[in-house]
Amino acid sequence: MPSRGPHLPGRSGVASDRLTAMAEQPRNGKVTVVGAGFYGSTTALRLAEYDIFETVVLTDIVEGKPEGLALDMNQSRPIEGFETEVVGVGGGSYEGTEGSDVVVITAGLPRKPGMSRMDLIETNAKIVRSVAENIARTSPDAVVIVVSNPLDEMTALAQLATDFPKNRVMGQAGMLDTARFTNNVAGELGAAVGSVRTLTLGSHGDTMVPVPSRCTVDGKPLTDVLPADRIEHLVDRTRNGGAEVVALLKTGSAYYAPSAAAARMARAVMEDSGAVMPVCAWVDGEYGISGVYLGVEAEIGREGVRRVVEGDLTESELAGLREAAEAVRAKQADVADL
Ligand code: LAC
Repeated sequence: MPSRGPHLPGRSGVASDRLTAMAEQPRNGKVTVVGAGFYGSTTALRLAEYDIFETVVLTDIVEGKPEGLALDMNQSRPIEGFETEVVGVGGGSYEGTEGSDVVVITAGLPRKPGMSRMDLIETNAKIVRSVAENIARTSPDAVVIVVSNPLDEMTALAQLATDFPKNRVMGQAGMLDTARFTNNVAGELGAAVGSVRTLTLGSHGDTMVPVPSRCTVDGKPLTDVLPADRIEHLVDRTRNGGAEVVALLKTGSAYYAPSAAAARMARAVMEDSGAVMPVCAWVDGEYGISGVYLGVEAEIGREGVRRVVEGDLTESELAGLREAAEAVRAKQADVADL
């Protein structure tokens, strides 16, 4: 059997068989990641390493950076054993992105220590609007995943600027916030992250709604495993999870967990998997809330959001979600003018 795996000393036959199988699997579609900062480039690498796409395009306004990162990622292919080609496009060009199936918008400034996500709204609105208009022109059938901050507002703006159907534009935040909540609970208990289930809804900001009633550890309700004050502490830490990383990094914001979440969403779209994930989606009647982009659970497929999945919430969680909806609605109305 011909081996297309890397010919490195010490590679076992098993590894090269696995790599041969990977080389032979079908790859489909094109995903574009706009913005070659840490968030964008890590997302592009994760997508490429899935080895399910034909092409991952990484773009940036800076000339040379996406081309260089793409070359570097492609040079890792013989070692990691994936075939997806990464294409870098600099200078703010959209050439090569045409007809993308999925576009992940990471363009925009990240927070600095002490800044709220909302402090970025004016600057990032200009960037996201321009990117979204270009995507609408070059990839008119794409599903768009927004990760730029402030997240809920930038998602609403991207939908306005593309004029795409609302199901084809969504934002990444709930997967990330949920992962942080899970990590916090697992850390508190010294438990495996795989044994913990958590959920956050609402905004990717101050009105984030962690949902303890939907959290379990080894199938047991979180409220049976931890006292109320510890849960409250973990909820607070989750709400401030992004700021905690920003304060430590001093320049830039988190990207490993955020990119993992964005890449999983793009994958669910391309595989038409029907996976249910917490995402920022257009809500139209669910939970008695209408006409706003909000963090909710949604079933993801080839058309973006197939449907919003309404789960059971306690009265106070539902009140928190409605409060988040109103806060976000007011801000989303403002972005139309930015
Ligand atoms: C965070 C940023 C990416 O929460 O919003 O880390």
